[in-house]
Amino acid sequence: MDLSFSLLFVFSLALAFTASFASSYDGTDDLLIRQVVNDGEVSDSLNAHHHFSLFKRRFGKSYASQEEHDYRFKVFKANLLRAKRHQLLDPSATHGVTQFSDLTPSEFRKKFLGIRSRLRLPADANKAPILPTDNLPTDFDWREHGAVTPVKNQGSCGSCWSFSTTGALEGANFLSTGKLVSLSEQQLVDCDHECDPEEPGSCDSGCNGGLMNSAFEYILKAGGAMREEDYPYTGNDRGTCKFDKTKIAASVANFSVVSLNEDQIAANLVKNGPLAVAINAVFMQTYIGGVSCPYICSKQLDHGVLLVGYGSAGYAPVRLKEKPYWVIKNSWGENWGESGYYKICRGRNICGVDSLVSTVAAVQTASE
Ligand SMILES: *[C@@H]1O[C@H](CO)[C@@H](O)[C@H](O)[C@H]1NC(C)=O
Repeated sequence: MDLSFSLLFVFSLALAFTASFASSYDGTDDLLIRQVVNDGEVSDSLNAHHHFSLFKRRFGKSYASQEEHDYRFKVFKANLLRAKRHQLLDPSATHGVTQFSDLTPSEFRKKFLGIRSRLRLPADANKAPILPTDNLPTDFDWREHGAVTPVKNQGSCGSCWSFSTTGALEGANFLSTGKLVSLSEQQLVDCDHECDPEEPGSCDSGCNGGLMNSAFEYILKAGGAMREEDYPYTGNDRGTCKFDKTKIAASVANFSVVSLNEDQIAANLVKNGPLAVAINAVFMQTYIGGVSCPYICSKQLDHGVLLVGYGSAGYAPVRLKEKPYWVIKNSWGENWGESGYYKICRGRNICGVDSLVSTVAAVQTASE
C-alpha cells in the first residue's frame, strides 16, 4: 500500500512537472497545474485505473451500469487523494484503499456508521464510581481473557450502536457467568426504539442510528438480550420484533458512564470488561493498520465501537517513538483494519474516543 501510494505520488509529480513544463510555452501552465491538482484527471489516470481494477477484484465490486461505474471511479480517485491526505495527517497509521474507497464520505457515514450525534456526557446518566488507578497493568487486552466474540459485520446498515452494545454486554456477561455468548444485534435493530431522555425525538432507530446508553436501557426494560444464533443478524430494519422472553441469554444489572479521564477509562475496562465507546470515524474510512494518531481529528461522535484493551507502546515509524494506544473492536468484518480492529492513540481524547464511554454490568440469568 505504501509503495503504491508513493508510486502514485511520484507519478503525479512527474506529470505535473511535464504538464507545467510543456504548457509554460503557451502561458497556460497555471490552468494546467490547477487541473492536475484539483481534479486529478491528468495526474493519475494510469495509476488510478490500475488501482481501481485491483480494488474491484479484491472486494468483488460490480456496478449496475457504465454510468455508475464511471461515477464510482471518480469517487475512488477522490478517495485515493483523501487517503494520501490522511496519511500525511496521521503518519503513525497506514491509510489507503479499503472496501469503502468507492463511497463518498456522506454515503459512508449514512451506511456504515450510525450513532446519533451527541457531544457531551448525558447529564442524568448514572456516573461510574471513581476507581483506584495505581495498580493498572501497563498492557491489557480482553481478547486474551476470553471476553470478546469474533469480529462481526454490520453490513450497509447504520447499526454500529447495536454492535457496541452487545459487545459490552457479552463481556460483562462473561465476567458474571464465565461464559462467552454472542448476543443478538438484530433484536436491538428490530425491537429497541428507546429514546434519549435529554434529546426529544432522538430514539434508537435500526439502520438509521442509535445510542448505546439507550440500548442498555431497552435491554434493562425488556429483561435481556437473546443469543446471536436465536435471533440472527439480517442487516436490515424492515422486519418486526421477534423477541422471545423465554430465550434470554444475558441481562443488564446496571450501566453507567465513565468520566472523561483516561486512567478511569482504563480502570473501568480492566475491572468491568470491554466498554461501549463512541468515536469520530473519519480516519477509519481509509485505515489499513498501525496506531492512528491524527494531528487533527473532529470530536464529533458518529460511530459506536467497543474498547477491548490498551497497549503502552505501538511503534510509530515516522515519529520514531512508541505511542500508547487503545484497542478498538469494530463491526465492519475481519477484512477491515487489523483483522477487524483499530488502534487509536491514547493521551488526548483523539477523535473524541474518551468522550462517551459506558460500562455495563450483567446479571446471572436463570436460563444459564
Ligand atoms: C451493578 O451491578 C453489579 C452486578 O449486580 C453490582 O455488583 C454493582 O454493585 C452494581 N453497580 C452499581 C453502581 O449499582
